[in-house]
Amino acid sequence: MRIVLSDTYRDMSRKAAYIVASQIILNPRSVLGFATGETPLGLYRMLISMYWAGDLDFSGITTFNLDEYYGLSEESPYSYRFYMKKNLFQHINIREDQWHIPRGTAENVEEECRRYDRAIEKAGGIDLQILGLGVDGHIGFNEPDEKFEGGTHLVELQESTLKANARFFPSPEEVPRFALSMGIKTIMKAKKILLLASGASKADVIYEALQGEVIPELPASILQLHPDVTCILDGGAASRLEKERDERFS
Ligand code: GLP
Repeated sequence: MRIVLSDTYRDMSRKAAYIVASQIILNPRSVLGFATGETPLGLYRMLISMYWAGDLDFSGITTFNLDEYYGLSEESPYSYRFYMKKNLFQHINIREDQWHIPRGTAENVEEECRRYDRAIEKAGGIDLQILGLGVDGHIGFNEPDEKFEGGTHLVELQESTLKANARFFPSPEEVPRFALSMGIKTIMKAKKILLLASGASKADVIYEALQGEVIPELPASILQLHPDVTCILDGGAASRLEKERDERFS
């Protein structure tokens, strides 16, 4: 695992954008895995700027998002589908048939999960997966569990996640309690992973995920076993790693 330290959120986002841009330049038909949440917003803004500057062409890529809230309609401004359109897709040259997000309103959830897995497989798997990190160590919406989940599945969100994500909804009661998420095995099958974490609220979980035991109770810890992970941290998120390192020197 490569750990890249950035002083600021802006610098973290810019470094991430260069990595995504180089992936697209080297393989214009790349399959990218996208994440939601606050962390990748700066990255998406930089990618949009690169597109408008004429430096990046998205017309050949395919994308798969990690997750979607269960039960939110496609038009809901709180759905991840809406988030992706608003924060990236509507600003770049990508057609609707190039991007994929699990359907949170599917009548048959099991079928939708299998359909999503098949679509990822048919596309040849994910070349570069972008990941954020929940405060409880979740990646996608893979919550702490007794085992690592394989494929796309329905998840019951933990109280800490409901609380953390309430900031995106008009009231905490409106946060859906379930979500559809890509599984850990699919994430681990991505050829490259780019993990982003920003802010002091992520310092402990980053430390545990990167330096602690690999356990399903801390889903992100599995990334230690992936052969090609780049983790970009801003000062806040790196603070515990740096403190533990510095304490080793007299
Ligand atoms: C949500 C998403 C995750 C994301 C996490 C962290 O739970 N499902 O994919 O990584 O939030 O969000 P933030 O970046 O806002 O801290």
